[in-house]
Amino acid sequence: MLLATTVLLLVLLCLVWTIWVKGKPKDPLHLPPGPRPFPVIGNILQIKPQEFLLSLQQFQKKYGPIFTIYFGSHPTVVICGYDAVKEALVDNKDVFSGRGKMAVPEYVMKGYGIIGSNGDRWKQMRRFALTTLRNFGMGKRSIEERIQEEAQFLVEEFGKTEGELFDPTFFLGCAVSNIICSVLLGKRFSYKDERFLSLLKNVTGAVRFMNSVWGLIFSFFHGVMHHIPGPHQKGIQHLFDLRAFIQEEVNESVKTLNPDSTRHFIDCFLVKMQQEKENPSSEFHNENLLGSSMNLFFAGTETTSTTLRYGFLALLKYPEIQAKIQDEIDYVIGDRRPSAEDRTNIPYTEAVICEIQRFCDIVPTGVPHSTTENILFRDYTIPKGTNVFPLLTTVLKDPEQFPQPEIFSPDRFLDDKGAVKKHAAFLPFSAGRRICIGEGLARMELFLFLTTLLQKFTLTTVVATDDLDLTPEFSSAGHLPRSYKMSAIPRH
Ligand code: HEM
Ligand SMILES: *[C@@H]1O[C@H](CO)[C@@H](O)[C@H](O)[C@H]1NC(C)=O
Ligand SMILES: *[C@@H]1O[C@H](CO)[C@@H](O)[C@H](O)[C@H]1NC(C)=O
Repeated sequence: MLLATTVLLLVLLCLVWTIWVKGKPKDPLHLPPGPRPFPVIGNILQIKPQEFLLSLQQFQKKYGPIFTIYFGSHPTVVICGYDAVKEALVDNKDVFSGRGKMAVPEYVMKGYGIIGSNGDRWKQMRRFALTTLRNFGMGKRSIEERIQEEAQFLVEEFGKTEGELFDPTFFLGCAVSNIICSVLLGKRFSYKDERFLSLLKNVTGAVRFMNSVWGLIFSFFHGVMHHIPGPHQKGIQHLFDLRAFIQEEVNESVKTLNPDSTRHFIDCFLVKMQQEKENPSSEFHNENLLGSSMNLFFAGTETTSTTLRYGFLALLKYPEIQAKIQDEIDYVIGDRRPSAEDRTNIPYTEAVICEIQRFCDIVPTGVPHSTTENILFRDYTIPKGTNVFPLLTTVLKDPEQFPQPEIFSPDRFLDDKGAVKKHAAFLPFSAGRRICIGEGLARMELFLFLTTLLQKFTLTTVVATDDLDLTPEFSSAGHLPRSYKMSAIPRH
């Protein structure tokens, strides 16, 4: 009801406005072409929040790989296909390194942290997070051991289902969240821990909100939206709850901090805060600590667990691919614990993981960028501070790069000798200066969780493989797999 009235009101407003202001204003900047915007509300009526991505893809067909749409009165340049995305994010990496407007995180994080920040703050936060994650093991042993340990807990939980059908969402979410907890807080939680469960509920609730139509409407009209009641208020509340949780953990860490023996990300940040406490313009303060920690939580949990859950669904649909992975595991790894080193020796499994990431395409719209300077891009002028969407789905499903992109085929990541074949257009983590900082961690998790589980279990379901639907569930932002149940049948 509220939605309908809001939309109706806006339509009326537009009509009045278009009668007043006739004709399209001359565009002196030569922004890329696009659908004609209405004053104030821009292209919202042509975009359909329920089919956001689809609408953008239709504009791509009509206007080509680079086009402009208006959210309200602000232009956003959308870039599609491998060639154009690479030309922007890689060949002009500095100009396209800004972060575009993201209403929800901006509202909660106020521009602090890594994902939503810009300029010097962003450089410092990003560099700090990258080095800290590296010292804690992205590439070193310790984080690998934590993932291996967590994988054993997953095996235990899968075992307890005794071959009955179950939805893996909960267990995978727990396991992946525990890895981030281990990085941030230096501890893992039992899957029954009350505090952990409410934490997960908040994360899921916030993600569900951001993927909903309400989340999108909030992004378009955040100026007014936080003043009006509606379901979005609850969505936002999850984020504030998570923030409070992290603040509690920070306070606890302050009390027990030993600068000579840091236990986790928060400790490292606190030490840096102490080192810079004489510097009044230091970026190392409580707000950036909360912002960065929230970022790691969000960016690092749903993405990885959704990929795993989607991947399992693909393996249920293609049992022959699952069997080939198991053959490779049995042959190369046998009964011992899979380790990160094994990755180089099991190319087929690596290829399947790449294809899972390409096919599932879980961040189809990418994360908004913005230009840090005016730029002449192809035949257009894009002014400084313009929002830019690198549409990652049009890269991962670019038919020039991946023939028959809608087919799930791990072989496209193997050369004729059976070794892993790299693809320049394989960009699930994006590219350029803003490329995901969790790529190494995520890839290690995907590999170790998948191999450890398939070493011990065969995944099956009662639904006929033809009836398993790999197309994503409705969502206004991310791609999510349709919900499903599976059985984990012990292998030995
Ligand atoms: C399969 C798992 C993952 C996928 C598909 C993924 C994907 C992405 C994408 C597409 C971006 C946007 C890059 C851009 O702005 O162009 C991003 C940014 C980011 N990711 Fe990930 N990510 C994953 C896992 C992780 C993990 C595990 C972490 C935490 C350690 C993480 C932390 C971040 C951060 C902090 C950023 C912001 C970087 C910046 O703005 O400078 N991600 N990720
Ligand atoms: C969010 O977490 C807090 C405690 O961490 C909990 O009290 C609250 O119920 C959670 N909210 C939801 C909606 O799950
Ligand atoms: C954390 O500590 C700060 C300052 O020491 C205090 O203002 C704040 O209320 C505390 N927050 C929580 C959640 O304990």
